[in-house]
Amino acid sequence: MKKARIIGTGSYVPEKVLTNFDLEKTLDTTDEWIVARTGIHERHVAAEGEFTSDMATHAARKALEMAGVAAEEIDLIVVGTITGDFPWPATACLVQSNLGIKGCAAFDVSAACSGFLYALDAATKQIQSGAVKKALVIGAEVLTRAIDWQDRNTCVLFGDGAGAVVLEAQDGDQGVLSTHLHADGSYWELLYQPGFGSRFPASAAGLAERLPFLKMQGNEVFKVAVRSLHEVAVEALEANGLVASDIDLFIPHQANRRILEATAKRLGLTEEQVYINVDRFGNTSGASIPIALDEANRLGRIKAGDMLLFDAFGGGFTWAAAMVRW
Ligand code: ACO
Repeated sequence: MKKARIIGTGSYVPEKVLTNFDLEKTLDTTDEWIVARTGIHERHVAAEGEFTSDMATHAARKALEMAGVAAEEIDLIVVGTITGDFPWPATACLVQSNLGIKGCAAFDVSAACSGFLYALDAATKQIQSGAVKKALVIGAEVLTRAIDWQDRNTCVLFGDGAGAVVLEAQDGDQGVLSTHLHADGSYWELLYQPGFGSRFPASAAGLAERLPFLKMQGNEVFKVAVRSLHEVAVEALEANGLVASDIDLFIPHQANRRILEATAKRLGLTEEQVYINVDRFGNTSGASIPIALDEANRLGRIKAGDMLLFDAFGGGFTWAAAMVRW
C-alpha cells in the first residue's frame, strides 16, 4: 500500500495582532490572568473582508510551492473548519476556485479542533486506496467571528489562521503511519455554537440571545481534554510499537498551555519534544496543528526520518492523533 507522505507545508496568519493588553481596554480581564490560565499573550485577527477561504488559499499556495507541485496536479482538497465562509458550499470548493483549478474532489470536515486530523485521515485513506495521488489538506479558521467579544470566559482564547500540507502517494516508509479518530457526542453541549442552524434558525431574538457565538464550559472541557489527549496519544504510540522517547516532535492542538503541558507530562515527554506556539496565536482550532507543523518545519526543527505525533481535542467532543514519519 502507498504511504501518504507530507511533501510540503504552508501557513498563513492575518497581519493584525491583538494582545492581552489590547483586550484589557475592552474587557474585565488582565494580561496576568490570561497568561496564567492559558499561556496566551496575543492572537491574530482576520481583517475586514478577509475570509477563511482566503487564508486557506494562502496556506495552500505556500505548501504547494514548498512541495514543487502545481495546483493542477491536486486530486483532492479537504478543509477542516468550523468557521467556513458560508454554511455551504464547502470552503474547500472556494479554495479550489481560488487556486484556479476544477474537477477534483473538494469537501470540508467539521470536527472542531480535531478538524485537521480528521481531514488528514480522510485524505490519507483516499491515497492508500489508490484513488488519489496528490491531496491538499488544510485547517483554516476565523474563530474571532464566532466568539462573543463580551464573554471574557471565551473570547480571550481564540485566534485566526490557516495551515496546509500537500500529501503525495509514495512508496517507502515515510508518511502518515497511522491515524486514530474518536468522538463522544454526549458532550456536545459543553462546547458548541448554537446558532444559526436548523435547531435555531436565524432570528432577531436569537441574535439578541447571542446564539451565533461559541459557548463553552471551560472547566469541564479542560478535564475531558487532558484525559482524551493522553489516551489517544498512547493509542497512537502503541499502534506503532513506540514509546514516548521515540517521538522527535509532539505537535498538539494549541488550545491552552496548561492542557499541553499536562498532556506532555502524563506522556513522559521532555520540553524539547513538544512544540508550543499558543502564546503567539491563541487557539486557532482546526488550523493550529498545521500552523505549528509549518512553523517547526520552516525553523528546521524536523529532519527526514523524524517521528512526529499529532494530538487534538475539540468540540463534539472529538479527539484524534496521527503518527507521521517525516
Ligand atoms: N479574565 C479574568 N477573569 C476571568 C476571565 C478572564 N478572561 N475568564 C474567566 N474569568 C474568571 C471567571 O469568571 C471565574 O471567576 P469567579 O471565580 O469569580 O466565578 C474565574 O476567572 C475562574 O474561572 P474558571 O473558568 O474556573 O477558570 P479556569 O481556571 O478553568 O480557566 C479556561 C478557564 C482558561 C477557559 C480553562 O477552563 C480552559 O482552558 N478550558 C479549556 C478550554 C479549551 O481549551 N477550549 C477549547 C477546546 S478546543 C475547541 O474545540 C474549540
